[in-house]
Amino acid sequence: MHCSGCHGPSGAGHPDFVPDLREIGALLDRPGGRAYLARVPGVAQAPVADAELADLLNWVLTEISRVPDLHPYGADEIGAFRREPLRDPVAARP
Ligand code: HEC
Repeated sequence: MHCSGCHGPSGAGHPDFVPDLREIGALLDRPGGRAYLARVPGVAQAPVADAELADLLNWVLTEISRVPDLHPYGADEIGAFRREPLRDPVAARP
């Protein structure tokens, strides 16, 4: 409900405008990637509580991105990351 308006029901996004959520698993392996995924504005500013946002992002990473061995985000971790949303996510992308 909070993501598919832009990223689409399959997560595929839109070429040149909205990134493909099926491809984001690789970012977890890059330095700063774990924080980046929680700090992009669409995630950080989603109108849900920290625990719900952790569940949501974990769901996207397992069901849409097909990350096989996800170390799930916790509510406290998400809470800390989302308090610092990225002002320039394109420049900050790891
Ligand atoms: C208003 C449109 C919009 C909404 C709603 C939205 N996003 Fe995004 N998302 C974007 C755009 C555009 C980007 C590219 C970076 C930027 O400009 O913020 C992005 C980037 C991302 C990225 C980084 C992808 C990459 O490859 O760098 C992730 C992860 C993400 N969004 C997940 C989500 C999730 C999960 C939700 C729902 C909680 C969500 N987004 C809601 C438009 C949106």
